[in-house]
Amino acid sequence: MSDPQRPRASLRTAVVWDVLEDALDRRVKATGKDSLDVLDTGGGSGNFAVPVARLGHRVTVVDPSPNALFALERRAAEAGVAERVQGVQGDIHGLFDVVERGGYDAVLCHGVLEYVDDPAEGVRNAVAALRPSGALSLLAAGLGGAVLARALAGHFSEARRALTDPDGRWGEGDPVPRRFTAEQLTEAVEAAGVEVGAVHGVRVFADLVPGVLVDTEPGALDALLQLEAAAAELPAFRSVATQLHVLGEKRG
Ligand SMILES: C[S@@+](CC[C@H](N)C(=O)[O-])C[C@H]1O[C@@H](n2cnc3c(N)ncnc32)[C@H](O)[C@@H]1O
Repeated sequence: MSDPQRPRASLRTAVVWDVLEDALDRRVKATGKDSLDVLDTGGGSGNFAVPVARLGHRVTVVDPSPNALFALERRAAEAGVAERVQGVQGDIHGLFDVVERGGYDAVLCHGVLEYVDDPAEGVRNAVAALRPSGALSLLAAGLGGAVLARALAGHFSEARRALTDPDGRWGEGDPVPRRFTAEQLTEAVEAAGVEVGAVHGVRVFADLVPGVLVDTEPGALDALLQLEAAAAELPAFRSVATQLHVLGEKRG
């Protein structure tokens, strides 16, 4: 999905996209269908939904924000995939008011659990939207990454507060309502009936290095992308990643 106009954007998406693309490929082979039914819950303006539609899949985006859905529509049209992307206003807690239960080959829930009232229910609904053996792609803010980032910025008390706070927040000014450990996410996913296939750390280093280094040093962005890919699945590194990605399959 890397966009030549915005190469640094690939730092946020590369690891997740590679894992997701492989998972969708495997579903295509397993189902024998050319195009899958994909649900992107909290899909926003289509960072993932539009590239997934470009692979030929039909994507339904459920999001409470009319602005995000408007941006999604425009982006899908610009990418020439408007007929394969449907935006629906709705909430992960009332998911089945707007989409079919058990109707999807893959469900994405990226950057949403941090903000919802009841993350466990959010995960249960995302899983309930899947067909048997369907793929779940879950991305959420990691606790360790926030602790490390606050400490490296010299905010040691905030780092310690994040470490001990039940929601992983570093203080009142923290814009993220909730963060997770890999164990919390895998437990929630398994409790909802999903077999975990892989857990990756996303942005292990990217948020810690000065941007100017990445932008001006020749070859630095590519080298950083390769380093992120190499470290993503190693438990020691993923536990200090900014985000955690869990890929799983709904038990049949
Ligand atoms: C950080 S953005 C992530 C957008 C997109 N998934 C991505 O990865 O680029 C969070 C999105 O979650 C949506 N959201 C917030 N609360 C939600 C809820 N209760 N149910 C579903 N989506 C929600 C927001 O409107 C926003 O579009």
